Amino acid sequence: MKHNSKKALIITIFTLGAIILMSNTNSIGNDSAIIKSDAVSVKSTDINITKPELTAKLLKKRLKLTWSSVERAKKYKIYRSNKKDGKYKKIGIVSADKLKFSDRDFKGERKTYYYKVKAICKYNGKKEYIYSDAVKKTVYKRKSVVNGITYIDGILIANKTYKLPSNYNPGTNSKAYAAFQKMQSDAYKDGIYLYIASGFRSYSYQQSLYNNYVSRDGRTLADTYSARAGHSEHQTGLAFDINNPSSSFINTREAIWIEKNCAKYGFIIRYQKSKESITGYKYEPWHIRFLGKKLAKKVTKSGKCLEEYLGITSKYK
Ligand code: DAL
Ligand code: ZN
Repeated sequence: MKHNSKKALIITIFTLGAIILMSNTNSIGNDSAIIKSDAVSVKSTDINITKPELTAKLLKKRLKLTWSSVERAKKYKIYRSNKKDGKYKKIGIVSADKLKFSDRDFKGERKTYYYKVKAICKYNGKKEYIYSDAVKKTVYKRKSVVNGITYIDGILIANKTYKLPSNYNPGTNSKAYAAFQKMQSDAYKDGIYLYIASGFRSYSYQQSLYNNYVSRDGRTLADTYSARAGHSEHQTGLAFDINNPSSSFINTREAIWIEKNCAKYGFIIRYQKSKESITGYKYEPWHIRFLGKKLAKKVTKSGKCLEEYLGITSKYK
């Protein structure tokens, strides 16, 4: 073969290869071939680029947002709003190589936010904005104190460590009460009669109750079964004593039924048998605390008491 014809053959092979490659590119991303060509002007409305798929995950101290990349995005802006169709505030901006952002700036004990991400793209020197759908997420601080009330992971806490303000007087929590009523009617179908012996207790009521126990049994003993004013879960309106708040309730059919079923309705047995040194109280199979179905089931399944589950203490200062 002559030198020239060899060269021609190499060129032919290269050209063929390039054509195959180009046609492949075209079949994969049709619009990309059009947009790249300067000869064809493209109206933004003609471009069908997929929007970023946004996901939000709540971690211990931050909300992690991640999203799928958008072709030709130069930057992403992250937005947050209190309402789905409300005003979205910019909370961050990241470059195109980053597809994540963390929101650590949670206000209040528990809040539902809506997040959106905007891809800022450039086509033929023109900016295009492509938004994700709004993603709803309830966020909370690990620990927050709002009006003197402590929330750990968004859960209101009243125990020996965490005190409620004396003017905190919410009455019975309506969700907790509705959950109890449902539990009560289902228990009745099983031949179990449940009623609330003691529900919401104000600060001053708890104070006189505790003081009576102290004068009867002394402070040390009273502290094992009665909360000091401001430290009782009964003041939250989320706790109920069922039927008979005394040791004779232990191992009754009702106590066994509650233990087996209360999580399904959103309650936990707050002061468990083997957890006295952690909760700070003797076993109380009659005292249930409302946490909502999801959390009550999780806590119950863990076998931990609430203090262990949240990693907190229950001790007077
Ligand atoms: N019996 C519980 C601990 C209370 O007094 O709140
Ligand atoms: Zn109680």
